[in-house]
Amino acid sequence: MSEKSAHPPTPPPTDKQRHRRGFLAATARVLVGSPMAIGFSSLVVTHLLWLLGLVRFMFPNILTEPPSRFKVGFPDEYSPGQVETKFKNRFGVWIVRHEYKGQPQIYALRTVCTHLGCTPIWLEAEQKFKCPCHGSGFFKDGVNFEGPAPRPLERYAVEIADDGQLEVDKSRKYQAELGQWKEPESFVPV
Ligand code: FES
Repeated sequence: MSEKSAHPPTPPPTDKQRHRRGFLAATARVLVGSPMAIGFSSLVVTHLLWLLGLVRFMFPNILTEPPSRFKVGFPDEYSPGQVETKFKNRFGVWIVRHEYKGQPQIYALRTVCTHLGCTPIWLEAEQKFKCPCHGSGFFKDGVNFEGPAPRPLERYAVEIADDGQLEVDKSRKYQAELGQWKEPESFVPV
C-alpha cells in the first residue's frame, strides 16, 4: 500500500506569476554588480555618512562633558589657607582661600602644570603643589618655585553669583606673568 503524501503537489506557476518572477530577476540582474548599482550604493553610503555627521553636529558631546561654569559653594565655607581639592577630578580646578600680595582672596587655580601639562598634586603637609612628571613645585598661590615649570599656574575667572555662591568660569583664564591676577575677575576678595 502506497503512503499518502503529506503535502499536495505544488501547482505549476501561472502566467502572471511567471511574468512577475521574470521581472524581479531582470531587475536584480541590473541592480547587482552593474555600474548603476555601484553608483547607487555609493550615493546611499555618502548620504548615510552625511546624515551621521549631521546628527553628531546637532548632538555634540556637551551633554557628557562638565559645564564650563559651575558653582563651588559660599565664600564662608572656605577657611583661611584652605586648598579645596574636591573639584579637581571633575572640573580640573583647585579653589584656594589665601593671600596674594597681601590681599586675602579666593581664587580658582587650573590643575595643569605650566611645564608640559601634567596634573600636579596638592601636598597638604608641605603646603605646595607638586608635579609628578618632572618635579615642578608651586606655592599655594600658584607661583612656581622649583623644577622646570617656567611660570605660575593659571587662574580661572571666579565671581559671586546671584545666590551668593562662588561661580567659576573656565572660559576665561588669567596668567600672573601677564599681570592678569590683578584683574578683579581673577579672584574674589574676602
Ligand atoms: S609637566 Fe609638570 S614638571 Fe613637567
